[in-house]
Amino acid sequence: MRILVTGGAGYIGSVIVSRLTARGHDVVVYDDLSRGHRAAVAGGVPLVDGDVRDADAVRDALLEGGCEAVVHMAALAEVAESVAEPARYRSVNVDGTAAVLAAARAADVDRLVFSSTAAVYGAPQRTPIDEDDALAPTNPYGETKLAAEELLWQARERDGLGATALRYFNACGADGACGEDHDPESHLVPLALRAARDGTSIRVFGEDYPTPDGTCVRDYVHVADLADAHIAALEALPAVQGAFNLGTGSGDSVRAVLDAVEEVTGSTLRRESAPRRAGDPAVLVAGNRRAAERLGWRPRRSLADAVADAWEWMRAHPAGYPED
Ligand SMILES: NC(=O)c1ccc[n+]([C@@H]2O[C@H](COP(=O)([O-])OP(=O)(O)OC[C@H]3O[C@@H](n4cnc5c(N)ncnc54)[C@H](O)[C@@H]3O)[C@@H](O)[C@H]2O)c1
Repeated sequence: MRILVTGGAGYIGSVIVSRLTARGHDVVVYDDLSRGHRAAVAGGVPLVDGDVRDADAVRDALLEGGCEAVVHMAALAEVAESVAEPARYRSVNVDGTAAVLAAARAADVDRLVFSSTAAVYGAPQRTPIDEDDALAPTNPYGETKLAAEELLWQARERDGLGATALRYFNACGADGACGEDHDPESHLVPLALRAARDGTSIRVFGEDYPTPDGTCVRDYVHVADLADAHIAALEALPAVQGAFNLGTGSGDSVRAVLDAVEEVTGSTLRRESAPRRAGDPAVLVAGNRRAAERLGWRPRRSLADAVADAWEWMRAHPAGYPED
């Protein structure tokens, strides 16, 4: 299949691109490099430097690449930033998705897989969370991703688009030459690995949650497993469509992640207690039966694998990716 991957120079996108290519698919990356890295795109894969809000440019990239499907990942994805700049998030995440859908229609592309998020559920009423549970995001990031999902379902009704939204929980780990290099970084695994490497402290936000060790529990899913879910979702379209959670189905606490980092690095972390952050639910764990049953996808890698892979990548790329 020939596939356009928007956001393919980003953390998760670069892993998807390299695994799609390894499976024999032809890929074109479309990314404005605002948060991604040219060096993250696998050798030989064409990169179109453009903004997803430019529907004509996305259409041209689809037509020139002879693409049959889109993986739409390009987005802004920082919760705190979305609270500070909600209009910018609406523009990139919602208007950007509308432009990609218009481009797909203009180029006669009828299969699309979209990067959604657990943030569409907000503070869940039960755990693990199922796809049919209430969608009640508690921040602009989650709101924009939910609005983008709704655009997908409208395009499905209106144009017959084959559409799947994959709701990722906490992506982590690395895969070969592809790893996580965000600036600023907000994700726990790379932050804790850096703290272990540099001897700096790592903050634990809240130790009085109603969880076994008092720290927040999240569902950490290896980025290579996430990538494999995209391949399964693309190959299942148009017969199988809809929204799917991508997570392991079991959670790990912040303390367990820090323990895993100490185990892998052989360093003792300087843990600093900090107050709870507003809006952090105690537990976010994915119910993943639907993805198993309909996509045949099951995560195969553990948190320990993810931490070890991320550590290996960080040691091989101490300064991250080279500047573009
Ligand atoms: N990292 C996670 O744990 C996580 C969890 C849930 C959902 N997601 C979603 O997965 C996707 C990828 O996340 P990531 O962690 O790899 O983020 P990332 O920032 O590393 O990648 C996003 C990519 O999109 C590009 N981009 C941003 N705005 C653009 C625009 N206007 N036009 C063209 N390209 C643009 C960036 O340059 C970057 O390469 C996002 O849609 C995010 O919302 C991520």
